[in-house]
Amino acid sequence: MFEISKRDGLARLGKVKTKHGILDTPTLLPVVNPKILTLSMDELKECGAQGLITNSYIIYKNIELKEVAEEKGVHGLLNWNGPIMTDSGTFQSHVYGEIDMQPDEILNFQKNIGVDIGTVLDVFCEPETRFEEAKKELDETQKRIEESDKNKGSIFLAAPIQGGRHLDLRLKAAKMASKTGADVFPIGGVVPLMEKNNFEKLAEVIIASKKGLDISKPVHLFGCGHPMLFALASFLGCDLFDSASYAKFASRDSLMFTWGTKNLDELEEMPGEFSAATGLTVKELKEMKKESRQKIIAKHNLIVSFAEIRRVKQAIHDGLLWELVENRLRNSPALMKVFAILKREMDWIRKFEPAYRYKTPMKTGNESDWRPIFSKLTNSFKSGDMVHPYFGKVPSHLSETYPFHPGLLQNDIEGWKMQDWNLERVRTILDYQFGKGNGKNLTAGKAELIISRKTKRLRNLLLDDEHVASLSHRRGMFILQKRGAELIHRSSKFPQFRVVVNSETAEFNKKGKSVFCKFIEDIDSQLKCMDECIIVTPNDELVAFGKLIISPKELELGQQGMAVRVRSGIETS
Ligand code: GUN
Repeated sequence: MFEISKRDGLARLGKVKTKHGILDTPTLLPVVNPKILTLSMDELKECGAQGLITNSYIIYKNIELKEVAEEKGVHGLLNWNGPIMTDSGTFQSHVYGEIDMQPDEILNFQKNIGVDIGTVLDVFCEPETRFEEAKKELDETQKRIEESDKNKGSIFLAAPIQGGRHLDLRLKAAKMASKTGADVFPIGGVVPLMEKNNFEKLAEVIIASKKGLDISKPVHLFGCGHPMLFALASFLGCDLFDSASYAKFASRDSLMFTWGTKNLDELEEMPGEFSAATGLTVKELKEMKKESRQKIIAKHNLIVSFAEIRRVKQAIHDGLLWELVENRLRNSPALMKVFAILKREMDWIRKFEPAYRYKTPMKTGNESDWRPIFSKLTNSFKSGDMVHPYFGKVPSHLSETYPFHPGLLQNDIEGWKMQDWNLERVRTILDYQFGKGNGKNLTAGKAELIISRKTKRLRNLLLDDEHVASLSHRRGMFILQKRGAELIHRSSKFPQFRVVVNSETAEFNKKGKSVFCKFIEDIDSQLKCMDECIIVTPNDELVAFGKLIISPKELELGQQGMAVRVRSGIETS
């Protein structure tokens, strides 16, 4: 039900496939209160909503709504034919205290009204709850998840992760829920943290939960609807958000922005991001009747939220999500504190670091130094004729190779110039990409560089007339071909560079078929997402080569689907 196409940090671009259509993630599901519609369905769609979330408990408790929902389904009730997720009444228990509802009763109702994603009636664990009590509550939530899972029928089941402020309980909750057949994992009990601007704890709770979650499933962050948080939460691995904030904030005249919240009272000038009503001034908005004003502000809040969702998606595509997260965190002292959490958790985050990104990474402040890409490579070369403002001395042979190629630093790299292609340069790149010694290894014999006459760029590296590798110009790194794969295989020790597949499926890989996670028996843990790799059998017979498109850590955390995009099988190349 969840297909991932791109990654950066722990964020992913994905597709959640429901019966009523696709959710392109990360995305926000606006909360629709079936009793009070702040915005119409058409307006929600215009703002960018692909799916909605509503509350099955509220529908169940209202005789009229219940009747319509039972007759026409939840899609008929709301007049929305896209994906609908429902919550279960847990949040009402947090706000109003005990609710009179049984977990199976509300699950059956969600099934009856044909929701796409239904939610278990979990126990809302407050951040103040002490360990023993939180543990008891968690056990109850887990029991309900297991029972609901057996009885979920054909809906997708959302199994909330509770545990309060206790990170060990969050981890345990995540591991237990991942053992069930639940389809979506919402991180619950975090609204009080967001209300108190305790973003440090929020980040810690997300990280602890993600460490135990089945990474192949989408993660929802319950009640997160402020655009200032989407980049961070996506970066930490959340795929879905929901919130009534756009409407709630509007009801008290608060406008949301990626950089914070402004009450209409505080505004003298209309911020540039306001596009809900063209040309409207602050004064005009203030003078409007409450109902019209509220509607315009709610629309503004949602427009800004979806604009930020699109910004996050573009950043994941470009590999510039770190830059965006840093930017957003610098908008308030409370968000700034999250940097310390990211620093502390860098060993975890590092495991998801790709071998290269589409765009050149940029430093945007002092905290950028902590990023894996900058901390690992800074001053890592003993000598170099190019002085890079981030990495210190770098051999000019790497002047067009990720992450040393200039990007926006065109004028800031001392000694940078386009380099000619020669064997020395090729060896420097191969050593950097595959480890010292491989420059010689992959060129020992009659090496030949095929250079484009027109562009003067290197295209291919041949050895004794056989194809070793091609060069990717965008990243200035090599793409292995058959002879290169054979040489890497022969000169390296098991399991270096290797993805080990079971012998039966290896036959398919030999013919050029891609490698799927479930057939992998072992993997070199040093490999990174987007690295070149070789595919071998458990006996170390080389069968194929290609690009690893997940990180070894993701594999360990239950990733499914394609793992290596095979360029060629040994029998086909
Ligand atoms: N909405 C906001 N927080 C929660 C939560 O912890 N559980 C459920 N079910 N819904 C929520």
